[in-house]
Amino acid sequence: MSRLLLTGVSGFLGWRLACGLKDRHEILGTYKTNPVGVEGAETAFLDLRDPRSIRRTLRDFRPDTVLHTAAITNVRFCQDNPAAAREANLDATVNLAREAEQVGARLIYTSTDRVFNGTGGNYTERDEPDPLDRYGQTKLAGERAVSRIAADHLIVRLPLMFGPPSPAHESFISWTLDSFRKNKPLELFTDQFRTPLYAGDAAEAFGLILSLPDMKGLYHLGGSVRLNRAEFGYLVAEVFGFDPSLVRPISMADKPGIPPCPADVSLNSEKFFRATGFRARPPDQGLADIKTAWSKRPGAWG
Ligand SMILES: NC(=O)c1ccc[n+]([C@@H]2O[C@H](COP(=O)([O-])OP(=O)(O)OC[C@H]3O[C@@H](n4cnc5c(N)ncnc54)[C@H](OP(=O)(O)O)[C@@H]3O)[C@@H](O)[C@H]2O)c1
Repeated sequence: MSRLLLTGVSGFLGWRLACGLKDRHEILGTYKTNPVGVEGAETAFLDLRDPRSIRRTLRDFRPDTVLHTAAITNVRFCQDNPAAAREANLDATVNLAREAEQVGARLIYTSTDRVFNGTGGNYTERDEPDPLDRYGQTKLAGERAVSRIAADHLIVRLPLMFGPPSPAHESFISWTLDSFRKNKPLELFTDQFRTPLYAGDAAEAFGLILSLPDMKGLYHLGGSVRLNRAEFGYLVAEVFGFDPSLVRPISMADKPGIPPCPADVSLNSEKFFRATGFRARPPDQGLADIKTAWSKRPGAWG
């Protein structure tokens, strides 16, 4: 079994990856403020802003691969706290990349569709990034640091993901379901387009990446369908059996003063598909999986 250091194990994605990959890899998952346990994996505290702790952890654990999912992902927080965003998303990535390089580990960096300004859509890896907000800017700076520092690296740009929350971090599906369950109308934008990816599909795709050690460079891993937020809301209502009229379609112009948000950051994932043979399932199938899990724990999310 290969040795995998997984940062951000308490996060939405990291948690899902730890649960999905623990049988095939010897995992050390790291958290910062939210201690979590994953049966079959080891977890430990690690503040990635501290280079000495990173060095100690990597030299003790000797990973074959470092899968870096830790980040500050709250767009508004990053906008209001640029220094903290830079420390967590760029400086921490630089620290990790240097140490991964030192111990000869492959580095896989998770990035975001928000590196694009959203005026185009269907973005490929050849398109020029131009992030509108500090979150996107710090994640792009992280990408550039990774490709500069770590010889053996892979950068995976991810879209909006949906799935059950981790024990410590929410998924946006929780508040959507919460609203529907309480019969509360939900305003959703018709002019923000993404290629949403089910977290279970993300876990499967990262499993494939880990089985392909020669896969390097930059890849987009988006869902199979381009949808706006309102369309996604209708799909959630349909799959979960809620009243679709609870979705109130609005446009960004209806909400003056909201933070800058790219209009269309849909990802073209053909390069990923050619490299791995993996294509995400239609979103309603991911939602149906979530519904099954949700029905076993009614009321647990949201
Ligand atoms: N979720 C999405 O829809 C989405 C979309 C596009 C891209 N992405 C990318 O996917 C990755 C994972 O996102 P996510 O949604 O899973 O994030 P998340 O739920 O917000 O979790 C963030 C994780 O980062 C950890 N962390 C934050 N600052 C840290 C620090 N200084 N040192 C160590 N750990 C730190 C947190 O640990 P504690 O909780 O223990 O503090 C947590 O485990 C990120 O690279 C993100 O940019 C996510």
